[in-house]
Amino acid sequence: MQIILVEANEIIRDLISLNIKTYLGVDVILRTNAQEAIELMNILPEIDLVISSVKNGDENSCSDIAQFIIDGDNDIPLIVLGEMPTTPAGIEEIATSSAESDWENTIKIAAKSLGINEDVISKRKIPDFIPITINYFFNLSTSCCDVYIRIKKGPSDYQYVKRIHQGDVFSQDVIKKYHSQGLKNLYIPKEQQSNFTNFVSNNLVKMLNQPSMSADEKLSIMGNSYDIATKEILKIGFNSATVQLTETIINNMIETFKDEEKVSPLLRKIINSKTSYIYQHSHMTAVVSSEILKNLGEDDPASHEKMSYAAFFKDISLADREELAQINSFEELENATISEEDWDMVFNHALEGAVLIRHYPEAPLDIDNIIKHHHGSPNGKGFSVTGQDSKFDLLSLVFIIAVEFVNELMSYKVKGGTPKPVIEELRKKYTSEETISIIDALEKTLKKSVKE
Ligand SMILES: [Fe+2]
Repeated sequence: MQIILVEANEIIRDLISLNIKTYLGVDVILRTNAQEAIELMNILPEIDLVISSVKNGDENSCSDIAQFIIDGDNDIPLIVLGEMPTTPAGIEEIATSSAESDWENTIKIAAKSLGINEDVISKRKIPDFIPITINYFFNLSTSCCDVYIRIKKGPSDYQYVKRIHQGDVFSQDVIKKYHSQGLKNLYIPKEQQSNFTNFVSNNLVKMLNQPSMSADEKLSIMGNSYDIATKEILKIGFNSATVQLTETIINNMIETFKDEEKVSPLLRKIINSKTSYIYQHSHMTAVVSSEILKNLGEDDPASHEKMSYAAFFKDISLADREELAQINSFEELENATISEEDWDMVFNHALEGAVLIRHYPEAPLDIDNIIKHHHGSPNGKGFSVTGQDSKFDLLSLVFIIAVEFVNELMSYKVKGGTPKPVIEELRKKYTSEETISIIDALEKTLKKSVKE
């Protein structure tokens, strides 16, 4: 049996191909655009099924593929990931649509098209309980469903014991105790998964919108919310809950910046907060790039918003892999002892982030380019060793410089040692007139902070 999957988003591509392999036992041929898929269909007439996202980049992939199938009268079923387009004529005859993030539904439709008994899927289905990382409970005092802990009874035999009843009010002491004992996951019934995500997300949004909260408290909730939002986006994609949470966090990032006269106390607060590396890097990059823009006289809200969006999403493909997100130069990547797969993940992460944000509803214009360029590489692959100033516009350049500066702050925090003279190094690497003015603006910020 042969299935072609046309999907430019690597995360969704992996998710669907892996699950088809797991549940249906069929290998999937991967392509990133319709043209390549059609070329393949020309030489491989025995294709049983094509799955394609509606659009890949600017290309209307599924329309092109549907047209090819209709023209050739090939009778190949097509699963459209996303909203089915109204063109070409006759597409309803061959295509069924499924939401891009709903892989379970996609697999079910695929099974049906291939004549595989759906029972096969339910038999291999995920267990009755699913793990939820314990930090999802850090800012909760009640739960929308029963919560269990897992106790090992034998080599592969587990028992699930109910610890929190739906609707019960529980104390954070209970959660902290489990956490200090090294418990990583609590469990919920699998059918509650999306309900629970929405519940956690709504709760965090409510907390973040509370006006009376100390700065430290707010940072800690923002950090936890950021970790939850990015992991959920990786897992289930954008839905109303993840989008609302993302927007609330980004608004809060912009607010914290607006409230401060000088940025260095804010950076100090962020770097000393008990939050993750990726969150700290992201929030500080938002602050530093906005401050540079302010010093350049480019103080408009739309640009600040762009900086915060870019900062939020720049390393999202590594949200589950904090140790990989700490690799910030080509040299560090070459010296890291990691698998080839992980190497690729780091090498392509800027591009991955850019591809992912294109699926975000109403993302600020050109934000994907700023994310793609964030390590100074024009195509979003790897890390620049030399400055390639002429290839970027102002916002990308500001963001690249901010990222380089924050890399240094974080590396000093994580590794210690002597702080590198980062401004001097930036001046050696970037020499165009425009970039020099950006570095001057960054230096002005630092001097202002030293003087206080
Ligand atoms: Fe990055």
